[in-house]
Amino acid sequence: MRLDDRVVIVTGGAQGIGRAIAQRLHEEGATVVIADLQGHEAAAEELDGLGVRVDVSSEADTKAMAAAALGRYGRIDGLVNNAGIYSSLVPKPFEQIDVDEWRRVYDVNVLGMFLATRAVVPAMREAGYGRIVNIASGTPYKGVPFLLHYVTSKGAVITMTRALAKEVSGDGILVNTVAPGFTMSDGVLANQVQIDQLQEISLKARLVQRDQFPSDIVGAVAFFCSPDADFITGQSLVVDGGAYFN
Ligand code: NAI
Repeated sequence: MRLDDRVVIVTGGAQGIGRAIAQRLHEEGATVVIADLQGHEAAAEELDGLGVRVDVSSEADTKAMAAAALGRYGRIDGLVNNAGIYSSLVPKPFEQIDVDEWRRVYDVNVLGMFLATRAVVPAMREAGYGRIVNIASGTPYKGVPFLLHYVTSKGAVITMTRALAKEVSGDGILVNTVAPGFTMSDGVLANQVQIDQLQEISLKARLVQRDQFPSDIVGAVAFFCSPDADFITGQSLVVDGGAYFN
């Protein structure tokens, strides 16, 4: 129960990796706020938390998300920036990426993380305490091809973590990244093209010879949210079964 009395917002927490993270944080004693486009109420009910409908790419939504959490619980101790566009993407050569698709990926994966963070930091600053965990990906380390918008957006997440950690460290706020490998999330399981193209190749590239599941990622996120990580900030932890050594 390392997270007793903590209130943690998980964006994209209604399904997939975010849902598994919210579950683990709840099991460790945290009160969770599920911030998602859909499914937030059902997930929050199961975890005895608060569900808020949020599009993280909307400034108004992210402000309302923080206000709802503060209104209900009076504090925001943690933010897991997990919402992202990945599982719906079809890998393609960069010349074929539509400009609207590029913008949407950046709006959610980069701008969304910035907005959600900016919405919660004032409350964290006032409390002199905050834990922010950004979900990136192993792809920018490896330079994975055919997902140029996605891979570069997750590279931005890693660098945002580093620069932001320096801006907020004086206020007791720690910022870290968890970078998963190809994971059998709900979204991925619903995209047969991704499974066909990436499951086998990802398996072959790892040292731990099995598929990666959302449950493989939750321990790292809970760790960064917990007092066990009180002296760690600006770091990126790759959780991918040993496919990439960071
Ligand atoms: P998923 O597609 O299963 O679930 C994503 C969740 O985020 C959904 O509940 C969706 O409604 C929500 N969401 C999407 N856009 C949103 C928005 N604008 N505002 C609020 N909520 C939004 O996704 P999955 O696979 O669990 O991925 C979660 C995170 O992990 C993403 O950031 C993804 O890039 C990252 N990731 C996923 C990997 C994988 O192989 N599944 C590998 C590495 C990173």
